[in-house]
Amino acid sequence: MTSTVPEHEIGRSVVTEPVRDDGPPGAVKARGLVKTFKGGVEAVRGIDLSVRAGEVFGFLGPNGAGKTTTVRMLCTLLPPTAGTALVAGLDVLARPAEVRKRIGVALQEIGLDPVQTGRELIELQCGLYGIVGEDARRRAQELLDLVGLTDAADRRTKTYSGGMKRRLDLASALVHSPEVLFLDEPTTGLDPASRLTVWDEVRRINALGTSVFLTTQYLEEADQLCDRVAIIDAGRIVAEGTPEALKAEMGHDVVTVALDGADAGATAAAIGALPGLERVVPEPEALALYVEDGPSSIAEIVRRLDQARISVGAISVSRPSLDDVFLSATGRRLEGADSAESPPESGGDSA
Ligand SMILES: Nc1ncnc2c1ncn2[C@@H]1O[C@H](COP(=O)(O)OP(=O)(O)OP(=O)(O)O)[C@@H](O)[C@H]1O
Ligand SMILES: [Mg+2]
Repeated sequence: MTSTVPEHEIGRSVVTEPVRDDGPPGAVKARGLVKTFKGGVEAVRGIDLSVRAGEVFGFLGPNGAGKTTTVRMLCTLLPPTAGTALVAGLDVLARPAEVRKRIGVALQEIGLDPVQTGRELIELQCGLYGIVGEDARRRAQELLDLVGLTDAADRRTKTYSGGMKRRLDLASALVHSPEVLFLDEPTTGLDPASRLTVWDEVRRINALGTSVFLTTQYLEEADQLCDRVAIIDAGRIVAEGTPEALKAEMGHDVVTVALDGADAGATAAAIGALPGLERVVPEPEALALYVEDGPSSIAEIVRRLDQARISVGAISVSRPSLDDVFLSATGRRLEGADSAESPPESGGDSA
C-alpha cells in the first residue's frame, strides 16, 4: 500500500492526503448508520464515517445534532436502527465484547465517587480490566503522570476542579491501553485554560498511538486539535475533511458587509459581479462575500455602494473559519448559538 504524495505537495508542511478509502478499516468505519428512537426521533439519519488509525477525529455539531447517539452506537452501548460499523476493525454488532476491550470511553456525564481519591479510582478501574496488585499501582501512576494529576492523586475527587475531573476521566478510560479513545465533549463547560490543558492531554495520548474520536460544539477545538473533522447537523454529516481543506473550499478571504438597515438584495445587486468573487452568503443583518483578495475588494465594494447611494455599516475582512463552513452547509451559525458558549466550570467544587 503505497500512498503517493502529489508532486505539488512535496516539501510543503501541510499535506492534504487523499488516502484511499478501500485500505485497512482503520479506527472507525461506519456505513449508513441510523438511529431512530422510540417515538420516532430520528437522531442519526444515515451517516458514513472513516477515522484513520492514529488520527484525532473531530465530530463537530450543535446541541441535539446526534453526536452522543453516534458515539454510543460506535461504543456498543446502543444498537443502530440500521447500518454497520467497524471499530478497531471489528463489527460492533457481531463482536461487541472484543470491541469493548479495544476502546476507551469517556462519556458526557462524569460519574466520580466524591470520597475516592484519583489514584483509588484509577486502580479500581484497572481491576475491572484484570490489572491488579503491583501492575495496577504502576499503571495508575503512569496515567496520573500522563494527565498531569500526580500532585492531586491522593486527594478526594470532590476537591478536584472541573478540568481535573475531566482529566481523571480521561485517565480512567486509558487503563487498558485502548486502540481507539472516544471522548464525548471532553471540554464542554471548562474555562479556556482548562480546555487547553485537556487538549494537551489528548495530544499526548494520541502521540502514544491511540486514535481519538471526539465530539465537540467548539469550532476552535475542532480546528486546533483535530486532524480531520466531520460536521454533523440534525443527524446528518454536512461537511467532512481537514480543517484546512474545509476552510479553503469556502474561498480565500471573506469580506463581511454589515447591512445596518440597508436592503440585502439591493446591496448584493449594487456590489454585483466583483472581480474574484467566489460566493455570497447572506447572514442575519450582513452579507458575507467570499473573494480572492479581501483588501483590494473592499475598495471596489465601497466604490460600487457609493455609486448606488447605498449606505451600510462596517466592512471587514477575515479568513474563512469552520463557522463559515457550518453556515454555508446549514444556513445557520454555530458560534453564538445558545450551545456554543457554556458557563465556565464551577471552580473548586468544594461540596
Ligand atoms: N434515549 C432517547 N430517546 C429519545 N430521543 C433521544 C434519546 N437520546 C437522544 N435523543 C434525541 O436524539 C437527538 C440527538 O441527541 P444526541 O444526544 O445524540 O445529540 P448531541 O449531538 O449529543 O447533543 P449535545 O451536544 O447536546 O450533547 C436529540 O433530538 C435528542 O433529544
Ligand atoms: Mg451529546
